[in-house]
Amino acid sequence: MSALPAAAGNVPEPVPVVTVRVAGPDDFRYAERICAEMADAARIRGTGIAKRTPEYIQGKMEEGKAVIALCEARLAGFCYVETWEHGRYVANSGLIVVPEFRKHGLARRIKRRAFRLSRERYPDSKLFGITTSLAVMKINADLGYRPVTFSELTQDDVFWKGCQSCPNVDILTRTNKQHCLCTGMLFDPGAPPPRSDEHHDD
Ligand SMILES: CC(C)(COP(=O)(O)OP(=O)(O)OC[C@H]1O[C@@H](n2cnc3c(N)ncnc32)[C@H](O)[C@@H]1OP(=O)(O)O)[C@@H](O)C(=O)NCCC(=O)NCCS
Repeated sequence: MSALPAAAGNVPEPVPVVTVRVAGPDDFRYAERICAEMADAARIRGTGIAKRTPEYIQGKMEEGKAVIALCEARLAGFCYVETWEHGRYVANSGLIVVPEFRKHGLARRIKRRAFRLSRERYPDSKLFGITTSLAVMKINADLGYRPVTFSELTQDDVFWKGCQSCPNVDILTRTNKQHCLCTGMLFDPGAPPPRSDEHHDD
């Protein structure tokens, strides 16, 4: 993947390689930067990403429940896995790609790795996410997620408390957690395969 423009002149610079892998304790030093990138992105978009502390991010790394993207030693992206209702539901949350690495398919690679990690560790769980991001909607749809109403997602209060740091939380509160600006998306491993359009009635 080329994250940086080629050098001017005849000889292009070597293409930087971005590695995407499960994070571990060796990656603790990136936790603060990850939180800062998440906070910056939330501020710029004016929508919420649940606020996380470096300690929380390090906990995810320690448990092998996070995916990190690195370009040599530089942070390029991150995402982590959370479980709700005793593992009945799993969310791949906190997706962030550092601005200079965007629009090169990195979010797709990170989400794919997080999806595989989640399916390996929680094969029977429903995977879900809430997002206003078109990029994330496209990636999720390609992984097999479907848009759903919030009623299909975890009802665990701790998950929805993560929305408290979003400027739109008043909508969620007003609608008793039924609607907000985010779209809910769900991958249900037990769902029947998609119906063919060949026999529809309308
Ligand atoms: C959203 C984000 C993770 C996308 O990262 P990225 O590495 O640029 O995404 P990718 O290059 O893998 O693109 C994936 C798809 O989304 C599309 N896409 C990327 N950015 C987009 C944007 N801003 N608007 C619309 N579509 C976009 C790409 O075209 C691609 O679709 P395609 O394969 O059909 O062409 C990144 O912009 C980011 O970190 N934003 C701030 C944090 C955030 O919004 N996180 C998600 C919270 S739910």
